[in-house]
Amino acid sequence: TPYIVVLAGGVGTKFWPHSRNNLPKQFLDLLGTGRSLLQNTYDRFVKLSSPDRFIVVTNHIYAHIVKEQLPDLDDAQILREPLRRNTATCIAYASYVIQKKDPGARVIVTPSDHLILHEVTFQETIALALSEAEKDSHLITIGIKPNRPDTGYGYIQYIDSQEEVKKVKTFTEKPDAELAKTFLESGDFVWNSGVFVWKNRSIIKAFEEQMPEMAEVFEEGADFYSTPEEKAFVKRAYSLVKNVTIDIGIMEKSDDVYLILGDFGWSDLGSWLSIHQLKPKDKNNNVVDANAMLYDTSNSYIKVSPQKLVVVHGLDNYLINESENVLLICKLDAEKKFKEFVADAKNKG
Ligand code: GDD
Ligand code: MG
Repeated sequence: TPYIVVLAGGVGTKFWPHSRNNLPKQFLDLLGTGRSLLQNTYDRFVKLSSPDRFIVVTNHIYAHIVKEQLPDLDDAQILREPLRRNTATCIAYASYVIQKKDPGARVIVTPSDHLILHEVTFQETIALALSEAEKDSHLITIGIKPNRPDTGYGYIQYIDSQEEVKKVKTFTEKPDAELAKTFLESGDFVWNSGVFVWKNRSIIKAFEEQMPEMAEVFEEGADFYSTPEEKAFVKRAYSLVKNVTIDIGIMEKSDDVYLILGDFGWSDLGSWLSIHQLKPKDKNNNVVDANAMLYDTSNSYIKVSPQKLVVVHGLDNYLINESENVLLICKLDAEKKFKEFVADAKNKG
């Protein structure tokens, strides 16, 4: 039975004001399914594993939300980070905790904020990845055929073959716009879905080879994991390591990276625009999640609490989003501006 390491510590400014520092998007029911994205992730993987095999890594300030949303997990299955040190760090922490418990473990690492439409195909892909991960020190990535030169993803170039599992030639995390365009046109690149499958031993080996300082820090925790001293150890460890993503720290550098192509209706719910694309729309391509009257309005997303009647005239490609004490009105595709919005709003108190 594989371990499922769920990365749930991102802050997700792109869904502000709906998501806040104290409630990032993985904890929200952005799609209106009645379950949060984290809960959707749990539901998806519990079918491939069992509740006691989950490890959720999150910031200590979100631990109570994880407990509340995933009541089947024990407290010890929630790893609390004292600071944000990005995905290489939280994956290292989880891997060394697993290493102490079960050195022969198989592991699936997953983000907690993705949409997957075709669950059965997804499960088949993961099953194949698990069997391929048995080979040598393979680190398996799952690739998605790109349809636009998006600069928010990692791009994987692979050596084409008849095999279901392809050798990775290059891995480029978040290229600039020009490079992304070249990658898309060349046809032998796919997006990194952010789901990884490996033997725990293989990723430990990769940390030792590619990020030896990281490996050293967390290896020293072996005496402390699952003891009362874990918290103090982790606080120290996090103050020592660099802020690095797994993509840059390991995937771009390792020779052990392999790829399986996935086609299961995947979407990284990265922005309001991406949610707009998924939701049912009216005849003018508007998503209306409000009590609203629209005139000459198209391609917009209106999300306002139902107590208020919203009247809109003459807008195209707009987001109107009301949440608690903030009303945001901006272009629907303004996602690059959100960091600025959030930072400036903080100064307004
Ligand atoms: N525990 C913890 N701690 N989780 C984190 C942290 C952290 O410091 N930082 C991010 N996460 C979680 C997020 O909550 C998310 O579930 C996952 O890790 C990925 O982080 P993102 O910040 O969403 O990464 P990204 O979307 O920009 O890029 C990654 O995913 C893309 C696919 O969605 C990369 O792996 C790209 O290569 C990939 O294409
Ligand atoms: Mg993401």
